[in-house]
Amino acid sequence: MLRFLTAGESHGPALSVVVEGLPAGVPIDREAIDADLRRRQGGYGRGGRMKIETDSVEVLSGVRHGRTLGSPVAFLIRNKDHENWKDVMAPEPQPDSARERRRLKYPRPGHADLAGALKYGTDDLRNVLERASARETTARVAAGALAKALLREVGAEIRSHVLRIGAASVEGELVAWEALAGVDQSPVRCADARAALAMVAEIDRAKKDGDSVGGVVEVVARGVPAGLGAFAQWDRRLDGRIAQALMSIHAVKAVAIGAGFEAGETRGASFHDEILWDAEHGIERPTNRAGGLEGGITNGEEIRARAVVKPIPTLLLALRSVDLRSKEPQKASVERSDTCVVPAAGVVAEAMLALILGDALLEKTGGDSLAELVSHLEATRAQQRTLAGPR
Ligand SMILES: Cc1cc2nc3c(=O)[nH]c(=O)nc-3n(C[C@H](O)[C@H](O)[C@H](O)COP(=O)(O)O)c2cc1C
Repeated sequence: MLRFLTAGESHGPALSVVVEGLPAGVPIDREAIDADLRRRQGGYGRGGRMKIETDSVEVLSGVRHGRTLGSPVAFLIRNKDHENWKDVMAPEPQPDSARERRRLKYPRPGHADLAGALKYGTDDLRNVLERASARETTARVAAGALAKALLREVGAEIRSHVLRIGAASVEGELVAWEALAGVDQSPVRCADARAALAMVAEIDRAKKDGDSVGGVVEVVARGVPAGLGAFAQWDRRLDGRIAQALMSIHAVKAVAIGAGFEAGETRGASFHDEILWDAEHGIERPTNRAGGLEGGITNGEEIRARAVVKPIPTLLLALRSVDLRSKEPQKASVERSDTCVVPAAGVVAEAMLALILGDALLEKTGGDSLAELVSHLEATRAQQRTLAGPR
């Protein structure tokens, strides 16, 4: 129902994204989109590239006088760094010198370089990394900001935070929604100030060693209507769709819904969230280990999902690799790079969750205009109140 396609290379002229399926009448604030782009660029441990770029969207279509038209929304986000790469990235044929100047020769273990070279049959790894680069997530964040705008209209909001960087982690129980309001003030987007200091130290140590460091982020959505998703077919289960969306983020290697990482080591009676009822609140769940999803359907609790982000592959402390032309052993190539992208990955995870929830919402309600969508949802909510009581 809500789909998007991104295009653009890391050092090309721009990134672009087309988002289709938003109903007409959704208020769009360009400043809010740019604010999310800035949040994606930040976080302690980012490299030189993010100092060059000040990402901002140009709206090409689909929005008029601050509201969506119901037509496809197209955004352009220019790469300032392109100025320095014009001949290297030119669409027209160029002399060999332009190609050789920035040819990436020695595939980096953990990056897409080798797999992409084998897929496309090229020994010019630049042809691979320009699109494989996580610069692409800029366009996803812009698309996600549109989905967030839609969700806001039905009372749903999304936040994210960092739970771990290397050996430094947030201890204890669930971090409450309210505690997530200020995470953007933290250099590592962590709600626990003490853990944040330890995380910064982890990044400093990795940087000093010419190494990189990974971690864990959690993304949380509040106010999401119950009943989105379906158990009727495997590909309509919302837990699976969220997992795929989060796993598709560069460097994400594991995803858990709710307390999923602990589920294999816990017995049922201490894992599942009991169902209580009282006249004031209706149905209540004292815990939320299910992360707001049961049977692939939202149950009205907060949606919580975690993603494990691996240490990024570009390392000054380069690992062993091979020259794909000469087959000689070489140290892996080094491009200008980040040390830690975990805080930024949380912002991308917000965007991906918003896009999946927006899609599932439209699937449930339909509606060509926001007003139509809201009235359908009101009918659903009224029906749910008869079963579950006040909400
Ligand atoms: C926001 C963000 C920024 C990233 N920046 C870098 C980077 O500067 N250098 C790098 O080697 N990898 C970086 N990565 C990770 C790579 O893009 C990723 O490891 C690579 O595309 C291979 O994909 P995979 O790790 O999912 O297999 C970044 C990831 C994210 C989410």
